[in-house]
Amino acid sequence: MSNILEVKDLKITFDTYAGKVQAIRGVSFDLKKGETLAIVGESGSGKSVTTRSIMQLLSQNANIEEGQILFDGQDLVKTSEKEMQNIRGKKIAMIFQDPMTSLNPTMTIEKQIAEPLRLHQNMNKQQAAERALELLKLVGLPDAEKRMKQYPHQFSGGQRQRVVIAIALACDPDILIADEPTTALDVTIQAQILELMKELQHKVNTSIIFITHDLGVVANVADRVAVMYAGKFVEVGTVDEVFYNPQHPYTWGLLASMPTLETNGSLYAIPGTPPDLLDPPKGDAFAPRNEYRMKIDTEHQPPMFKVSDTHYAATWLLHKDAPAINPPAEIMARQKVYKEKYAALHTEGGAK
Ligand SMILES: Nc1ncnc2c1ncn2[C@@H]1O[C@H](COP(=O)(O)OP(=O)(O)OP(=O)(O)O)[C@@H](O)[C@H]1O
Ligand SMILES: [Mg+2]
Repeated sequence: MSNILEVKDLKITFDTYAGKVQAIRGVSFDLKKGETLAIVGESGSGKSVTTRSIMQLLSQNANIEEGQILFDGQDLVKTSEKEMQNIRGKKIAMIFQDPMTSLNPTMTIEKQIAEPLRLHQNMNKQQAAERALELLKLVGLPDAEKRMKQYPHQFSGGQRQRVVIAIALACDPDILIADEPTTALDVTIQAQILELMKELQHKVNTSIIFITHDLGVVANVADRVAVMYAGKFVEVGTVDEVFYNPQHPYTWGLLASMPTLETNGSLYAIPGTPPDLLDPPKGDAFAPRNEYRMKIDTEHQPPMFKVSDTHYAATWLLHKDAPAINPPAEIMARQKVYKEKYAALHTEGGAK
C-alpha cells in the first residue's frame, strides 16, 4: 500500500511568556491509503498539535522548527496559505471533539453540507442538495430529507457529530482527521459514532487519523496505533502488536489503566506526571515515571528500536545489552481475555 502522508522528524515549539514549549520533539510516521491510524496518549502529549500542523492550523505563537509533512509528495510545511485553502476540507478534512463548534447555528444542515460542495466541487444547487441527502443517509441520520432543512440546535449531540462527519466526507477527502470525536458524547452514543466510523472506513476509501486518550476504543477502530508521550511517538505498531506484544513501559501503563470489558472503572493510573515541556529532561522523558528505568534512560534519549517491519518502540529495554524484562503478567493476562472477547465479537457479528 502506498503512503498518502509522510511526516518526517517534525519539531514544533510554542513561544510563551515563560519560554519555548517544546511540544513536538521529533515525530515521524506515515499513513497508508485507506488505513486508520490511531494516536493515543495522555493529555498534553501533542496529539492535537501534530494533527493541526498537518492542516496548518497552528496558533500564531507556534513554530515548525524542523521537519516535513509530505502529503502526496507535497511538503505542507512549505505550502502557502492560499494553496492550503484548497487542501483543507477538500483533500484533508478534520472533525473535532465538540460538534457544536464546527456547525454554524444560523444555517440549515443542508446548506452547511452543500456549500463546500458548490465551492470545491463546482456542483450546482440541485446536485449539491442530492449529495447532501446521500451523505446524511450514509452517516445514518434517520429522516434525512426532513432533517436537512433543520438547524443544528434541533439535533442531539450524537446527531450533530454525524452531521459533522457528513460535512467532512462531503468532498471525498484523502485524509480524515478525527480529534477525539466522541469524548463530548455519552457512552452509548460514543459507541454508535465509533461503529459509524468503522463502517465508513469500509464504504469510503479515506485514510483516517483517529485521536483518542482511551486505548480501549482503539482496538475496534484502528489498523495501527501510535502511542505518544511528551511530544514523541514511543511505540508504533499494528493493533495486535501494540495490544498483545507491547514493548514500551508507558504502553504497559496505558494497557493496565484501560477499563476492562466487565467494569467501567479503570484499575490503575500511571504514577507521576508528564515532564515540563519548557525544559524537557535530557534523557528519556518517561524515565522519571518508569519503574524499569536504567542509568542510560536518564542520560540519553532512546532511538526507535525495530521489533518487526511494522512495530517500533523507543525504549532502552530493547537494546541488545538491556536485561530481559517482560510486561507485567497481569496486564498480559487481561490482554489475552480482551483478545478472546474480540475474537468472539468478530465471529458473532460476521463481517463487523
Ligand atoms: N497555543 C499554545 N501555546 C503554548 N503551548 C501550547 C499551545 N498549544 C499547545 N501547547 C502545548 O503543546 C503540548 C501539546 O498539546 P496538545 O494540545 O497537542 O495535547 P493533546 O495530546 O492533544 O492533549 P489533550 O488530550 O488534552 O487534547 C502541551 O504541552 C500544550 O500545553
Ligand atoms: Mg487534543
